[in-house]
Amino acid sequence: MKVLQAALIGASLLAMAGTGNAVAQRTTNRSGTRPASMPAPHVDGAAARAQAIVARMTVDEKIALAHGLFPPMAAGKSPNELIPSAGHIDGIARLGVPLVRESDASLGVANQVEQRRGDVATALPSGLATASSFDPEIARAGGAMIGSEARAKRFNVLLAGGVNLTRDPWNGRNFEYLGEDPLLAGELAGAHIAGVQSNRIASTIKHFALNSQETGRTVADARIGEQALRESDLLAFELAIERGNPASVMCAYNKVNGDWACENDFLLNRVLKRDWGYRGWVMSDWGAVHSTVKAANAGLDQESGQELDKQIFFDAPLRQAVQAGQVSTQRLDDMVVRYLTGLIESGAYDTPVASAAQTPPYAANAEVAQRAAEAGIVLLKNDGNLLPLARTARRIVLIGGSADVGVLSGGGSSQVRSVGGAPVEIPLSSGGASSFARITYHASSPLNALRKALPGTQISYVDGRNLNATLEAAKKADMAIFFATQWTTEAQDVADLRLPDNQDALIAMVAKVQPKTVAVMETGGPVLMPWLDQVPAVVQAWYPGQRGGEAIAGVLTGRVNPSGRLPITFPASAAQPVRPAPVGLDRLSSLEAQAAADPARAANLVLPSFPVEYVEGSDVGYRWYEKKAMKPLFPFGHGLSYTSFAYRNPVVSGGKRLSVTFDVVNTGRTEGADVPQMYVSRDGANQPMRLAGFTRVMLKPGETRRVTLTAEPRVIADYDTKLPGWRVRAGTYRVALARDATDRTMVSSATLDAATMKP
Ligand code: BGC
Repeated sequence: MKVLQAALIGASLLAMAGTGNAVAQRTTNRSGTRPASMPAPHVDGAAARAQAIVARMTVDEKIALAHGLFPPMAAGKSPNELIPSAGHIDGIARLGVPLVRESDASLGVANQVEQRRGDVATALPSGLATASSFDPEIARAGGAMIGSEARAKRFNVLLAGGVNLTRDPWNGRNFEYLGEDPLLAGELAGAHIAGVQSNRIASTIKHFALNSQETGRTVADARIGEQALRESDLLAFELAIERGNPASVMCAYNKVNGDWACENDFLLNRVLKRDWGYRGWVMSDWGAVHSTVKAANAGLDQESGQELDKQIFFDAPLRQAVQAGQVSTQRLDDMVVRYLTGLIESGAYDTPVASAAQTPPYAANAEVAQRAAEAGIVLLKNDGNLLPLARTARRIVLIGGSADVGVLSGGGSSQVRSVGGAPVEIPLSSGGASSFARITYHASSPLNALRKALPGTQISYVDGRNLNATLEAAKKADMAIFFATQWTTEAQDVADLRLPDNQDALIAMVAKVQPKTVAVMETGGPVLMPWLDQVPAVVQAWYPGQRGGEAIAGVLTGRVNPSGRLPITFPASAAQPVRPAPVGLDRLSSLEAQAAADPARAANLVLPSFPVEYVEGSDVGYRWYEKKAMKPLFPFGHGLSYTSFAYRNPVVSGGKRLSVTFDVVNTGRTEGADVPQMYVSRDGANQPMRLAGFTRVMLKPGETRRVTLTAEPRVIADYDTKLPGWRVRAGTYRVALARDATDRTMVSSATLDAATMKP
């Protein structure tokens, strides 16, 4: 079965299992570079400096930097030197090249299946929660916190910056990403990366590109036209790279239009390096390399997690290819120059990892996680102002979701062993993620947090397993709060959008006996809510991180005024999304069944490559709903508050830039944050409106702030492959100043001049 899994979903999953090396306590500083206090060189000089270093290298030294170890599997090094994590590349002491230690870091310094026994870190809420803040500052603060903990733990290259657009609500990895809109995702990923790198640590951006589903992720062939790709997924990367300047780009597992992403000349050479002028290095995903000559010439600079590929393509085979002239010496030099440039520009080169680990300021860092969770919780529904909880409620019952002990987190390489431990941890017995993911809760109990916040209220908990006891408890209480959970993970998609384990039926039954029922949703992404009409209040808490219990309690009690907005559309039915179910799941399931029935044959069962047609093109998410005139359950951008806001005196201006200036007024009685949004489309273009600008404004009751939103020009433009570049057409543009992607109550228009921009 293990071999089958490797073939099906990427060998890294296999390799990540059962790695029990002790945490390294001490390592030798092998770099011999200058002290941390010295300033980084000016960015413009980084490439020149890298070239000068590479000019002094032997071929063997260059080749050694073109591939990296997967630490749990590498032999011949002490655990002190080789910290169990995602990657390791030796330095070159004689030239001052630092050693590199890589850790996953989407939501915190990862430690998936506790490779480093006892090593904890601060766990942020999921990426979708951060995206729901619509606040680059929240994303930046999270990145800065992760980077500081990574440095304390002696990592200096972080595998962060996941910015794949959500094309499908069932993608198992949606929780790690930043939603369905390129502007929002790009802005926040860029801020997150900048935060990580503010610690003089390198960050990646990943997974380049179109790793949009986990089912068959190592064999799926994402098909899409260039214009649509440039206007959607690539635009998210482009914006994030501009804003965050990541040292490295991680190419993805899948194919894009027929070529593996890590040997895709179009993506790596043409778009990334030529059109965007990217100076850093391209590292592969773990187990994503398939060739030497093709990959090297297509723009791959470094093979990561080398033990996970069929062979180490960028070691002896690369040396031979250079000797045979199949890969030029200049190209080999370029690979290493790019690697060093990324390290130099980020500051990692001149600030080597310390020789001993330090303990991060966990208490202060937990505050960063809590602020992010509080900003990211979305109040979806609040009929009759059921929330915040009335202080007069005498008896409240919490139901399910292990709300007595903690909050759920998502699985896979982003998994953090959070401070406080894992009160619930369930290993998987089957499926693509079973070798490196466990269902894991963070120790942040909503029950305890609520009891602390409402000392005068009697608050109890039932786990929901005994139906009669649950309904009895719900009936007796003044109010019920149902904690609904959906676990999702890297390496697996969810088969459908219903809550698992009959939770839908249970919620409906609880709501029937207790009209004052609140649903708190701890889910990886959107789920269907067949009980919505019966439940007056719904709180989307995502995976809220290691202070999730406190954040949820804050929103429920009104200590926190909810301000999150959905970064992803919630479908009203399973039929609404472009692809109702994961493409290839049927084939994968039948293969898994064959393997289970005949384990001896499992090794020979391989999922063949299959196409995934992205027929929606650049009309991802809310744009698809507008195009098809479908009403979602909750639209992109939606989120309620305990106060109310009005937009007044809008003035739209055009010419060279499209902008709207207006007053945001807090018309209610509570301080709160609003997220005004600007959607744009060109008259006559017959295109759905696109999010062109947004901001987050905190206002006291009665306060007014005049705000200007200026449209990102590439969102207004169309990508013209013949130009090639972005083309803004002259004409009249409709501008909606809106509360969500479907709000058309304030639409004005302005005329724009024609313009073109480079790709
Ligand atoms: C994931 C990457 C991750 C890498 C290293 C891969 O399976 O796709 O996101 O950074 O493993 O752990």
